[in-house]
Amino acid sequence: MIFGVVGAGIMGSNLCRCLADRGIAVNIYSRSFEKASKLASEIGGRAYSDVRKLVEDSDAVVIFVTDDRAVLSIVDSIISRGRVDGGLIINASTVTPTASSISMEILSSVGIRYLEGPVYGSADEARDCRLISMVGGDRELFENYRKFFEVYSQSVFYIGAVPKAMVLKLALNHIGLAVPAILAEVLALITAWDVDLEVFREVSKSIWFGQLIERYWDRIFRGKPPRFKMWMAGKDYRYIASALKEKNIPSIVAEALSTIYMMPSATEYSDKDYPQIARYFIDLANKIKEKKI
Ligand SMILES: NC(=O)c1ccc[n+]([C@@H]2O[C@H](COP(=O)([O-])OP(=O)(O)OC[C@H]3O[C@@H](n4cnc5c(N)ncnc54)[C@H](OP(=O)(O)O)[C@@H]3O)[C@@H](O)[C@H]2O)c1
Repeated sequence: MIFGVVGAGIMGSNLCRCLADRGIAVNIYSRSFEKASKLASEIGGRAYSDVRKLVEDSDAVVIFVTDDRAVLSIVDSIISRGRVDGGLIINASTVTPTASSISMEILSSVGIRYLEGPVYGSADEARDCRLISMVGGDRELFENYRKFFEVYSQSVFYIGAVPKAMVLKLALNHIGLAVPAILAEVLALITAWDVDLEVFREVSKSIWFGQLIERYWDRIFRGKPPRFKMWMAGKDYRYIASALKEKNIPSIVAEALSTIYMMPSATEYSDKDYPQIARYFIDLANKIKEKKI
């Protein structure tokens, strides 16, 4: 079993570590060869500067890049010289249903098999091979490659044809990413009206949603390294909104939450861990109070 991994960011690099720990051969491509090379020497893998060559040399290739544009540019590079003798592409990146369908269509035109395999779980889960994988695509193809997903996942769910797994991933993210965005506005309200944040926290502990707040409190107030970047939460909400609109369904909440996560886009907050959106809002409330803005 030879895995290829495209993308040496938070998810791609931790997936590589998981695979290497299991004694699996890993080929790595990143748009910066230096990053791929550094990761390859850390885990004993092989770095590639040509993504198409990586596909040819691997049994299955997992793509973990930022967004629609990044996935489509990878797909474009893979097909650039015509037919490819490769195994399978698993798109684990969170993209729009349309981008996933287009990727499948383009790749199949040059003989490459495609499954979408978005995941739930973050850096630690990727590192420990404990991701939750949702798979979309041909069922028989999935059954043939099921063992590849099982290597890095604690559970694997077959969802249906492309892009159903991607839609499900966006639906789950809508729930998971909403809480910190709501907390951001809540904590700004508390700050603006001079209510003690710890009093708010203490009272919340006696209410059913107190557990939710506790889950994020440390991630908000202790500046930990990002597990999922703030701007990417905004990206996911843009995709949720566009997937709703495509089916003529109102996308009011998704659009509002996208705006919240995109507000810090020109600041140093943009690449921080997404629950720190609440810190950004508290800072904003304080600056407004002090009439600095
Ligand atoms: N982090 C999470 O908790 C999490 C969980 C589930 C799903 N996801 C999804 O997984 C994907 C990766 O997330 P991540 O957190 O690993 O992001 P990340 O740390 O920002 O890494 C993104 C990777 O994409 C590469 N990239 C960006 N634009 C590119 C382009 N045009 N062509 C080629 N490569 C490009 C980046 O390359 P450079 O290093 O050169 O910029 C980097 O290697 C995203 O779709 C995200 O929504 C993330």
